[in-house]
Amino acid sequence: MTIETVINVDLDGPRINRHVYGHFAEHLGRGIYGGFYVGEDSDVPNVGGIRLDVVEALRDLNIPNLRWPGGCFADEYHWRDGIGPKDRRPTMVNTHWGGVEENNHFGTHEFMALCELLGAEPYISGNVGSGTVREMSEWVEYLTRDGDSPMARLRKAHGRDQPWQVRFWGLGNEAWGCGGNMTAEHYGQEARRYGTYCRDYGDNRLYKIAAGANADDYAWTETLMKQVGHLGCQRVRSTAYHALSVHYYTITGPTWEEKGSATVFDTGEYYTTMAAAAGVEQVLAGHAAVMDCYDPNRTVGLVLDEWGTWFDVARGTHPGFLFQQNTLRDALVASVHFDIFHRHADRLVMANIAQTVNVLQAMILTDPDSQAMVLTPTYHVFWMNRDHQDATSLRVDHRTAPPTRPVGDTTLTTVSMSASRKDGRLLVSLSNLDAAKAAEVEIDLRGGGVERVDALILTAAALPDHNTPQAPSVVAPRRYDGVSVTGDRLRVHLPAASFVTVSGALTRPA
Ligand code: AHR
Repeated sequence: MTIETVINVDLDGPRINRHVYGHFAEHLGRGIYGGFYVGEDSDVPNVGGIRLDVVEALRDLNIPNLRWPGGCFADEYHWRDGIGPKDRRPTMVNTHWGGVEENNHFGTHEFMALCELLGAEPYISGNVGSGTVREMSEWVEYLTRDGDSPMARLRKAHGRDQPWQVRFWGLGNEAWGCGGNMTAEHYGQEARRYGTYCRDYGDNRLYKIAAGANADDYAWTETLMKQVGHLGCQRVRSTAYHALSVHYYTITGPTWEEKGSATVFDTGEYYTTMAAAAGVEQVLAGHAAVMDCYDPNRTVGLVLDEWGTWFDVARGTHPGFLFQQNTLRDALVASVHFDIFHRHADRLVMANIAQTVNVLQAMILTDPDSQAMVLTPTYHVFWMNRDHQDATSLRVDHRTAPPTRPVGDTTLTTVSMSASRKDGRLLVSLSNLDAAKAAEVEIDLRGGGVERVDALILTAAALPDHNTPQAPSVVAPRRYDGVSVTGDRLRVHLPAASFVTVSGALTRPA
């Protein structure tokens, strides 16, 4: 059966905010230390301790932003511990992630240097759980204020004259849990208080993101939406925060203790994972619907600032370090998420995969002994999809419904697609989630055609296939010739368990 699809290439749609291709780096396991940062004395080529191989690989993804320092870690991080000469920075205990000692060698200046090397905007999560309003407000001043104020002076004393531009600020993290175990009502008040004292300095306009719901906790979102505007001393309605976040992880196993292995799984588990991944659509739609009730003009953004697979840690690794391998299954989880992000481009302003290096669904894994770096299948999905960033999202309508299969008490659609237009080019992403059957898609392009078509495919002999330092390209994109163009029709053959991108120059209709 051929899936008949229609894309109107000349119609307008919402812009896919490039920030939905955002990233997340927490002080967790080997995410920062050994991942991004090896220290100046390392044999691994580095600038100021930051690994150059990792930077170079991530630059190819055009990563738009990097969220830091957590996660749960953010709510026990005190930024002043991470500035000044490294040998005088105090040590703390990272109680969330393995109880290890954190020497604070990677702090504010190192993070900003990393963002500059990556060409990514910083997204800083402030400490609401165990910090103070003053502490966060001074961090904003330290980073972004020019002139002769106490914090600007302190920054200059630590070697940085010019303020940085830091737009994105998180007002805490998971306030319903590790970020303070607050109720939504209480947190809403806190977010308004913290938001009030995080100031705009010069031309740096803050975009404040309130710590939002866990998955489908729509009541949390509703409470924060009711509190988003506040009346200040001039009785003017202003915005205490500009966006709400939500976290959604793809978890396969039945309990937290049995999330399942990242590499050893059967087809049933694979479909459970894919159904869980596709579940993010309902969650985004649910939060968007609640937000629409209070903000029909969509001025408040929705930010999915943690998403991705969460499996049992790899055998023999520290249970608190959340290190897992990354297979073709993870790649398909990512490709399905992006299709959903593109469809919700009218409300979703940012998304951050958890996490970039060595933690959970990573783009990059580094070997702790040899220091060799491996690009994961998930990395390749980000790379193949990178031209969707800031493109116009195009509707994809099906004349023939794509195939489905029952998974537990849900139904999984096994062919997923999205499309966008940018700079006179069309990009279509297609995933076939069926583990065994190929699919045929015929796309009727309306309002224009396409020429000079390029296609790439990401697949492998088996779903658990993954990359290692010894075999780094088992799952890697390859040029693909299973695509043909006849007039304004694009025909795509999708092998089982594959991700394909098709791009080409748009032509005017004949
Ligand atoms: O990404 C790992 C953890 O997951 C984060 O620290 C926390 O915010 C979430 O629960």
